[in-house]
Amino acid sequence: MKAAPEQIPPPPRGSLGELFNPFLPEQIEDPYPIYARARREEPVFYSPPLDVWIVTRYADIVAVLRDTDRFSSFNSLYVRAEPIPEVRAVLREGYEEFTSLVQSDPPDHTRVRAVFGKAFTPLRVAALEGHIRELTRELIDAFIRDGHAELVSQIALPLPGYVICDLLGVPRSEMKQLRAWHEDKQALMAGSAPPEAQVASARGYVAMQRYFQAQIEARRAKPREDLLSLLVPEEIGGSAALSMQEAVCNAMDLLAAGHETSTALLASGIDLLLAHPEVADALRGDPSLIPGAIDEMLRCESPVRGFFRAVTEDAEVAGVRIPKGARVYLLYASGNRDEAEFADGERFDIHRRDTGKHLAFGKGIHFCVGSLLARTEAKIALEELLERLPGLRRGKDPARRSPFILMRAFDSLPIAWDA
Ligand code: HEM
Repeated sequence: MKAAPEQIPPPPRGSLGELFNPFLPEQIEDPYPIYARARREEPVFYSPPLDVWIVTRYADIVAVLRDTDRFSSFNSLYVRAEPIPEVRAVLREGYEEFTSLVQSDPPDHTRVRAVFGKAFTPLRVAALEGHIRELTRELIDAFIRDGHAELVSQIALPLPGYVICDLLGVPRSEMKQLRAWHEDKQALMAGSAPPEAQVASARGYVAMQRYFQAQIEARRAKPREDLLSLLVPEEIGGSAALSMQEAVCNAMDLLAAGHETSTALLASGIDLLLAHPEVADALRGDPSLIPGAIDEMLRCESPVRGFFRAVTEDAEVAGVRIPKGARVYLLYASGNRDEAEFADGERFDIHRRDTGKHLAFGKGIHFCVGSLLARTEAKIALEELLERLPGLRRGKDPARRSPFILMRAFDSLPIAWDA
């Protein structure tokens, strides 16, 4: 058995444990060479800067995802399992633990997932298509005459952002405040900012909890046709088998899951098309290729790089022993390029037949509940952008990648076209 993480000796020079550092600008810009090297040389390794075991091969990731008894989803979104004490003190003013669907295990997971099942049925998503197309057209109308735009702020962020606000039932005018709180939550997930900044983020996080609690309570008396009404707990007279804490945490997670991932998919998808104009032409010529192309975009540039699992008893992954109490980081973005699973896995190829088995939406019991909504938003946005922006190309200013290590995303992506 390997030693507990704190007793692990420093990694040998040149080993993956030493080379892998997702905070380095070059690994934010292009992480794929180090992922490929890990898959070849050390598919499972301990990373000191993250204090986790990294799992990089497709088959090993899937094996861990299936073993929900030994690999718990507790704190699965957080780079640091334990917040610093100053942050914990602020969190105690609200709900200290974050008990949302994605961070729960059976039997709680099974109970909460049943509540979500009603919210994202294919019928409900299909009913949203007209609304999503109308919104997409309005957003494009606002900049189409300019001949240039900044894709993230002008469409990739507002489109899924407004859709999730409309679904939850919160006014779009509050998007700016919600976004600021969401960034506080992201900062806590990353856990790498200086302590004072983390404390400020924790205050924003508690304010966001209070906001959603008030929104949910308001729906107890007056239910509406929205997702927050579906989350009103039985204990206060609603229909959801949830505690108030679970209702609040899930509302916060939905806001995040519902927009930042889709924003990343749209921006990365367009970036891939800018790098492969022949594919953009093929999609313009035959829009029925777009859904398959979206899966290939998700495979090649997975918006969620990976999530964590907590090891509940001594385990072994690909022959590497991982002690109880440690954490693993399942690198979906690496598994999705694993040559053992996808021939010529580094290549973007929209005609692949097996691209649908990618891990971009996870696998198993935590498979993304919003995958259909995300695909629908991306399909409509790509159809409209490709049709209405002829000669789509990169804009003058350079694109900027997001430094948030859990996501593969852009902060800005300037584009231009023939106006
Ligand atoms: C391109 C867009 C999206 C990507 C890449 C994505 C990715 C993921 C991934 C990887 C997981 C699995 C988590 C794990 O393994 O622990 C997940 C779960 C989840 N996603 Fe998404 N997601 C997207 C869009 C959405 C949308 C639009 C919503 C809702 C409006 C959503 C809601 C959720 C929820 C609630 C879960 C938790 C499911 C569970 O634990 O049972 N996602 N998503």
